[in-house]
Amino acid sequence: MKLYNLCILVTSAVAHSWVEKAILSAQELTGLVGFPRGNVPRESSLFSDDAMTNLLLPSVRKHNVLEESDLICKDTQSTYNYTNGSPALQNGHVTKLHSTPNKASSGLISVYGTANPQPSDTLRGVQEHGQLLSRAPFDDGTCYQINNTPESVRRRGLPQRRHWAFEGADLWCTIAVHLPSDLRKGSTYTLYWVWDWPSSEGGHHMRTEIYTTCLDILVE
Ligand SMILES: *[C@@H]1O[C@H](CO)[C@@H](O)[C@H](O)[C@H]1NC(C)=O
Repeated sequence: MKLYNLCILVTSAVAHSWVEKAILSAQELTGLVGFPRGNVPRESSLFSDDAMTNLLLPSVRKHNVLEESDLICKDTQSTYNYTNGSPALQNGHVTKLHSTPNKASSGLISVYGTANPQPSDTLRGVQEHGQLLSRAPFDDGTCYQINNTPESVRRRGLPQRRHWAFEGADLWCTIAVHLPSDLRKGSTYTLYWVWDWPSSEGGHHMRTEIYTTCLDILVE
C-alpha cells in the first residue's frame, strides 16, 4: 500500500496562527503544495494576519461563552474557495501537521475530518459530532525557531528530520493525522484544524481562545 504524508504547516505568530500550507511528502519530501481555503498569500497587498486568522470567541464578545451558532470556518473559508495560485492539496492518506514553536503553553490541536462539509458547520457541532482524526499538543517537543533561548539551542542539537526550504533553519512542529482509508478517489475531503489555546486574564480568569483553519484535500 502506498502511504503519503500530508504535512500541514502552520505559520508562527505569537498571538494567532493558521494553517499556511499543506504539503504532500510521502517518504521523501516531494513537495506538492496546497493551501487553506480563502488564502491571501503573504506577497499579496491584501495580506494581513487578520485576513487569515479566525478567532473564537471574537474579541468583541463580552461574555466568555462559545455560542451554539459560532461557525467553525472563517467567512472566507466557509465554502470551497481557492485563490488563484493557492490551490487545495491533492491526495494524502497520512497527515502531518506542523505548528508554531516555542510557546510556554502550547494549547491543544484537534483535527476533524468530513467528506460532507457544510458552510453552516458550527464549532460546537464539529467538536461534539465530528470525526476526530488527531489530537495533540501544539508543541511536539522538537520544533524550534532560531533564537537565543536555551530551549531553542537545546532543540537545535537534537536529531531531526530534513527541513523544508521555506522553514530555513527553523523546524516547525508536527503531529500525525491518519486520514480514513476508505476515501473515494476523485472526492474532496475537508479538514477542520482547531487550536484550543485558552488565555488567562488578570491571573485566574480564563478566556476561550480558539483558532481555526478550514482546508480541503483532493483525493487521488
Ligand atoms: C474567498 O477568499 C478571498 C480571500 O480570503 C476572499 O476575499 C473572498 O471574499 C472569499 N470568497 C468567498 C465567497 O468567501
